[in-house]
Amino acid sequence: MAVETLSVCDPTLLADIRRYGKFDPTGCYQCGSCTLTCDLVDDTVTFPRRSIRYALLGLRQPLVQSLDPWVCHDCGECSIACPRQAEPRISMLTLRRFLSAQYDWTGIAPTLLQSTAWYVGSLIFVAALTFLLILGYHLWYVKMPATQLVTTPLGLEHMFPLMTYYTLTVILVPLLLLLSRVLRIWRLTMSAEERAHIPFSAYVAEFGTYVDQSVTHSLMRKCPDRGRWLGHWGLALGTVMMLTIKVFGLKWFQTDNLYPFYNPQRWLGYLATGLILYGMGEIFLGRLRAQKEIYKETRFQDLAFPILLVLTVLSGLAAHIFRYAGFGLTCHLLYALHIVIATPMLLVEMSFGKWAHMVYRPLALYFLAVRQRAGRQAPAAEVVPHAV
Ligand code: HEM
Ligand code: SF4
Ligand code: SF4
Repeated sequence: MAVETLSVCDPTLLADIRRYGKFDPTGCYQCGSCTLTCDLVDDTVTFPRRSIRYALLGLRQPLVQSLDPWVCHDCGECSIACPRQAEPRISMLTLRRFLSAQYDWTGIAPTLLQSTAWYVGSLIFVAALTFLLILGYHLWYVKMPATQLVTTPLGLEHMFPLMTYYTLTVILVPLLLLLSRVLRIWRLTMSAEERAHIPFSAYVAEFGTYVDQSVTHSLMRKCPDRGRWLGHWGLALGTVMMLTIKVFGLKWFQTDNLYPFYNPQRWLGYLATGLILYGMGEIFLGRLRAQKEIYKETRFQDLAFPILLVLTVLSGLAAHIFRYAGFGLTCHLLYALHIVIATPMLLVEMSFGKWAHMVYRPLALYFLAVRQRAGRQAPAAEVVPHAV
């Protein structure tokens, strides 16, 4: 039975969605050009229009159950092809924000994703709190006189083991928060009927899809701009490498010891940094190469993560360069700046912002593959990786 026949029209849905960004596909006359243009579909499906139609028709439950917005990789080809300037790419972007808010049980994501002021405020608040923590640590914990704060360098090692606990907290808390939503997403996106009928074996059999999408992001490879996938893959790999090093090898990585160039402590750090910067370069150049108007609706909530990631990497790299150049105090101050930038990125972006897609996207593709394996309705089934 089609899900939508069970749903009642909710006249407030459209207004709810528009709180998360531009959603104005009313000029759409269902010509299907977007579907024909999108690399993710064949001619039998209504992707990307289906979830947009749900929204226009006020079908809240089917929309929340829809995983299609997570399949879209934001290339913008559909918006270029649209003869009515209905901007399906932007609609999908807004729907992703709307869905992210539904997935969050804390109620914080809706506030942050609806209001740029709250979003900016939360980043500034966490950054300020981090700064005060650093200040308080030096003044009261290390008992450093205030006059020496900007004149006297301390070795990095004075921070251990406190710094280890801090790093573990700011990385693992948002990660656990994200993972705590998995069950809720499953309940929201799979109907009661599906939950009852899809056998557990289908979830086990398709688990490889989850791993594959998390590690290789292979669906993105269908984007005609190949550099985009490669750049993003390098960026994600570099970020995961950095996080893993910080969680498991902080004391080894953040030290005053000077190592020769061939030591893994150095080249692993350079490799991760290089991958992230290469990926970010690809993203920014890709945007410049693309037709500018398709990116005109970019919201602060989408830009904050790439910007914070670049600033985190650059401040860490600068601290490293100054340490090796023998400027202890500059290194120390840059390291403090690095922490002040990285903390809001981890706590706000990973928990509630754009970065949450690292869990939502592979999870959506996994659930689609599970549905398809169990022979349930096949929304955008053609895009499920194992079927293409
Ligand atoms: C540590 C992990 C990850 C990091 C650091 C990361 C980083 C990013 C960044 C910075 C962007 C923004 C690009 C832009 O503004 O144009 C982005 C976009 C994207 N990411 Fe990731 N990502 C990660 C994991 C994943 C995973 C696991 C998937 C897919 C299965 C994925 C799929 C995408 C897609 C399709 C986009 C383009 C659409 C959009 O901007 O929402 N990412 N990613
Ligand atoms: S191309 Fe534009 S007008 Fe045509 S179906 Fe897609 S969104 Fe609607
Ligand atoms: S923006 Fe999304 S829906 Fe549009 S063509 Fe690209 S992948 Fe398809």
